[in-house]
Amino acid sequence: MMEVCRVFSVAIVCVCLAAVTSAASKNNRVRVGDFASACKANDPELNECVRQAIITTIPKMAKGVRDLGLIPFDPLKVPQVVIDQRGNGPVGLKLTFVNSEHVGVSGLAPHSVKVVPERMYFEINSTLPKYRIIGDYEVEGRILLLPLIGNGPSDFTMSAYF
Ligand SMILES: *[C@@H]1O[C@H](CO)[C@@H](O)[C@H](O)[C@H]1NC(C)=O
Repeated sequence: MMEVCRVFSVAIVCVCLAAVTSAASKNNRVRVGDFASACKANDPELNECVRQAIITTIPKMAKGVRDLGLIPFDPLKVPQVVIDQRGNGPVGLKLTFVNSEHVGVSGLAPHSVKVVPERMYFEINSTLPKYRIIGDYEVEGRILLLPLIGNGPSDFTMSAYF
């Protein structure tokens, strides 16, 4: 499940950064410094600067940034999420969440960041300590020889600590 958390976190951060970039280009009166700490491309500690910027900026952005037209994204409503892990192995599942609410992105904990400005390259290794999905689910697949089919309401919490 930690892998799932990583995939979600990276996807959501990318969506959110893309939203900021496109909104900012439409409205050039908004300055990055108004809602996020900026890093200089030639900073010898650029990776660490960006990692710190993510830690301080995500919780602020999660509440929404009106000037950027960025809606709050924690909690985030998602029409459909499909996790398809069917294959030839002994366990294969396809799990779909419909009209789900996702809670916890603002707790994003980046372990390391790699930025190469001249190549426009950005890599993040991050976990979400706690991530909750509330919504209707559908599951189909099998565990060994047992077919598994079901649907209904769900409240699904993934946590790094037990
Ligand atoms: C990501 O960070 C964790 C914790 O520091 C580490 O154990 C893991 O190997 C890293 N993964 C990658 C792909 O760099």
